Amino acid sequence: MAYAAFRSIGAYVPSKILSNEDLSKMVDTSDEWITKRTGIKERHIAASDEFTSDMGAKAATLAIERSGLDKSEIDMVVCATISPDYFCMPSTATIISTKLGLGNVTAFDISAACTGFVYVLSIAKAFIEAGMKKNVLIIGAEKLSAITDYSDRGTCILFGDGAGAAVISATENKEEAIIDIHTGADGKFADLLMTPDGGSGSAHDTLEQEASSCFMQMKGNETFKVAVKTLTKDVIDILRENNIQSADIKHFVPHQANLRIIKAVGDALKLKDEQVVLTVAKYGNTSGASIPMAINDIYESGKLQAGELMLLDAFGGGLTWGSALVPFSPLK
Ligand code: UT7
Repeated sequence: MAYAAFRSIGAYVPSKILSNEDLSKMVDTSDEWITKRTGIKERHIAASDEFTSDMGAKAATLAIERSGLDKSEIDMVVCATISPDYFCMPSTATIISTKLGLGNVTAFDISAACTGFVYVLSIAKAFIEAGMKKNVLIIGAEKLSAITDYSDRGTCILFGDGAGAAVISATENKEEAIIDIHTGADGKFADLLMTPDGGSGSAHDTLEQEASSCFMQMKGNETFKVAVKTLTKDVIDILRENNIQSADIKHFVPHQANLRIIKAVGDALKLKDEQVVLTVAKYGNTSGASIPMAINDIYESGKLQAGELMLLDAFGGGLTWGSALVPFSPLK
């Protein structure tokens, strides 16, 4: 039987920084409020001519280089994004595949908001274990600045742009395989976090009428409460089901939405500070890109070594959630 191994990581962060100070000149907010309630200090914003696919392709180039594979060996590309280059088609994954010169691959996007990277990881694992694919490039890429209302202080302080990517490969060695992945969703919470305009479900008769906005709207406090409850249960369950103790987790890599959510889940697992990966202060919430960007951070700072166990967890619009137990298993 084939197992799926997490071989490599890469990320891209656009250069322009939007600080809390900058935002306090745009809406009625302050560095003190944002820092205290979210832990965010700054976020990065893509250039106007820099698209989600550009960022995804840059992250993916690094991930492929670091995988030790030739790009011709990649046989599937899956991109998690809620800010695709084009809302209906083509998929951002197909555009990235072409930018990378991958030739004929299976390529598609998935929409699971901030849980997107855990979802694409589960898809890669399933295709590999079914024997249908051997080397899957998974990407989380977001230009959230394109769907953020910069007059809404409840959301615009949270989100940033960026991309991360990983190569997941078939292996016969169970020791290096992804251990388990949980994914879940509950549409009864759909209205907590959504982009109400721009789709066939919008109340507008024509696309012209809705041209003004395809912005994210969020009931932040309610989302916060469901996030803490759901994530805490999910991570406790995945550890218990796999007979793994919190102390065995080398790197807890949560979706970087809010420092208070991360701390609540970390405390429930009794994790030590050094086990918890934090990038929320410098990148803000980059939705589907946040987990691979955080993994890349520990990789590039030399903290992520072969064989170390990561626990990923995420929560987002849908509502969706997920967690994963993933050993880092580079080929080189
Ligand atoms: O990534 C996908 C999932 N997303 C999340 O998990 C996000 C979850 N939610 C959150 O992170 C938090 O709910 C927020 C950071 C969005 C908001 O923090 P909060 O502690 O839940 O604040 P709140 O919405 O309860 O608002 C408290 C007060 C309100 O004023 P009053 O009614 O008490 O006078 C808000 O109007 O803070 C006010 N407020 C702000 N004040 C200054 C809301 N946004 C701001 C702001 N600056 N940016």
